[in-house]
Amino acid sequence: PQLQAQLREELWRELGPTGPPEPGDVGRLPLLHATITETLRLCPPAPLALPHCALRHTSIGGIPVPVGSILVPNLLAAHRDPDTWDHPEDFLPERFLAPDAPSRALLPFGCGARSCPGEGLARAELFVFLGWILREFRLEPPAAGEGAPGLGGSGGTVLRPPPFRLRLLPCLPPA
Ligand code: HEM
Repeated sequence: PQLQAQLREELWRELGPTGPPEPGDVGRLPLLHATITETLRLCPPAPLALPHCALRHTSIGGIPVPVGSILVPNLLAAHRDPDTWDHPEDFLPERFLAPDAPSRALLPFGCGARSCPGEGLARAELFVFLGWILREFRLEPPAAGEGAPGLGGSGGTVLRPPPFRLRLLPCLPPA
């Protein structure tokens, strides 16, 4: 609830009554951007990216990779590596507001020549729609005693959240 209030305050302070954010507003909404980035870190939608086949002998970090090897990048594990991330299991968007955030270790869209070509579109959609929802609604558990949605997910190419219910309560601009 506290983070939602901070995000709503940022959205209304920066954009006023003009409407939902646009992709070009990223620089004005650092907390929204950090929240999306932290979501992609903790629950990368494609946790094992896509398999790649080595076309020649090579190495990664000193480990030999013979030609023909199938490589499966474990993005989920990389995003929760305690050698890189402080409190890796916690949802802490503010980690990406710090200038020394290990952003190079964040790979939700893969990296290199075959990284996701949809990254720009996906990021723009996340930014506009999450910003729009959080500007207009407060998200709450469906009923007293029911907890927040679980952060687990079923395996597969795409990480799917367990079914969940939420209440979206329309809210006024912050005072
Ligand atoms: C949050 C949304 C998305 C995430 C997290 C995501 C993530 C990824 C990842 C990790 C890969 C594998 C990269 C690699 O092999 O190293 C990939 C590949 C790919 N993605 Fe996405 N993606 C997203 C949205 C999209 C969208 C919106 C499109 C198209 C409009 C798209 C099209 C593709 C295509 C075509 C590939 C295969 C690229 C290739 O093998 O050269 N993705 N994506």
